[in-house]
Amino acid sequence: VTAFDPTAVDVRRDPYPSYHWLLRHDPVHRGAHQVWYVSRFADVRAVLGDERFARTGIRRFWTDLVGPGLLSQIVGDIILFQDEPDHGRLRGVVGPAFSPSALRRLEPTIEATVNDLLRPARALGAMDVVADLAYPLALRAVLELLGLPAGDANAVGRWSRAVGRTLDRGATAEDMRRGHAAIAEFADYVERALAERREDGADLLALMLAAHRSQLMSRNEIVSTVVTFIFTGHETVASQLGNGLLSLLDHPEQLELVRRQPHLVPQAVEECLRFDPAVQSNTRQLAADVELHGRRLRRDDVVVVLAGAANRDPGRYDRPDELDIRRDPVPSMSFGAGMRYCLGSYLARLQLRTALGAMVALPDLRLVCNPNELAYQPRTMFRGLTRLPVAFTPAG
Ligand code: HEM
Repeated sequence: VTAFDPTAVDVRRDPYPSYHWLLRHDPVHRGAHQVWYVSRFADVRAVLGDERFARTGIRRFWTDLVGPGLLSQIVGDIILFQDEPDHGRLRGVVGPAFSPSALRRLEPTIEATVNDLLRPARALGAMDVVADLAYPLALRAVLELLGLPAGDANAVGRWSRAVGRTLDRGATAEDMRRGHAAIAEFADYVERALAERREDGADLLALMLAAHRSQLMSRNEIVSTVVTFIFTGHETVASQLGNGLLSLLDHPEQLELVRRQPHLVPQAVEECLRFDPAVQSNTRQLAADVELHGRRLRRDDVVVVLAGAANRDPGRYDRPDELDIRRDPVPSMSFGAGMRYCLGSYLARLQLRTALGAMVALPDLRLVCNPNELAYQPRTMFRGLTRLPVAFTPAG
């Protein structure tokens, strides 16, 4: 029995064989670096719903890793790293901006953005889905959510990528240096946007400024929230769009089905989320001793729940390794569960449905490289392609 290690090259490329081994033989597994890996659906749900599996220790891990300075301070304020009561307070402030009724205002922008981005590709009959559609769409959507100008997308995307690279176990000294430089510019930019801003808009920045005035949120927390939302909000959607489209390209009969029956697009999005999620795992640190599946886990142990494995649990899904967009919709673990269930799930679905719907409608859509040439970004928590070159019959 070897210790599971999500950073291993073959696991990064295709984690699913290892997940099956874990699901079958060792559902609560002590893996590399003494980390616990939880794979079965019911156990993952139980962990995510239990406050003893906390986040504060994880916050310390990352703030120590990035070292002293502004970056560490901003990382320390991120909502994803807070436990109660701070987590609930921050979620209460930003939550209203994520409700379906608040997000409906973004629908026309998302549709127009997909059309704009696809226009040059439609004429050409070829594109890289990752660079030409997924990233620019997801970044523009999150800027719109915040109320920041679309014209800032390039600079914001650059800072966000540099900061994001520091939050990975594999980050190098050069990644850290770039991350520290980027966060200074990023924070300046957010401060300037706040200074020019009034509180009466419907966007997230206006909402947070109002909360600041009522002393519900500090200025640093606003900066952290903007940085986090830009990073998590766009990397995830962009990666999911690439993963989902590749899953359909790998299963031409499913691609054909959704192309012929566009009302199946929302179901195809759900099945693609289940089949190959952009967020593969979530980490917790125990605030108390806990027993799980007959294993004794100790206070301070680090526990990683594997959404990608839970989504393939044969105890939860029939034929878990088959992509079947006609499956009765069964919720997956791709947006998490419990009190930290993804705030952006509605916004993500909106983009995925619009973009995937437009892509599958392109005539004779096909992959134009050898599948072995496709590569995943060097990350452990997120799973996303570096590029996805496709071709189709050009318009006109
Ligand atoms: C939380 C996945 C898109 C904002 C989460 C969690 C997951 C997740 C698994 C739970 C984390 C945990 O339990 O530790 C995804 C996926 C997305 C996506 C797969 C796209 C396909 C977005 C977008 C936004 C967003 C577009 C915002 C712009 C958040 C926030 C949280 C969160 C703020 C933290 C919630 C909390 O701590 O209470 N997401 N997400 N996500 N997500 Fe997403």
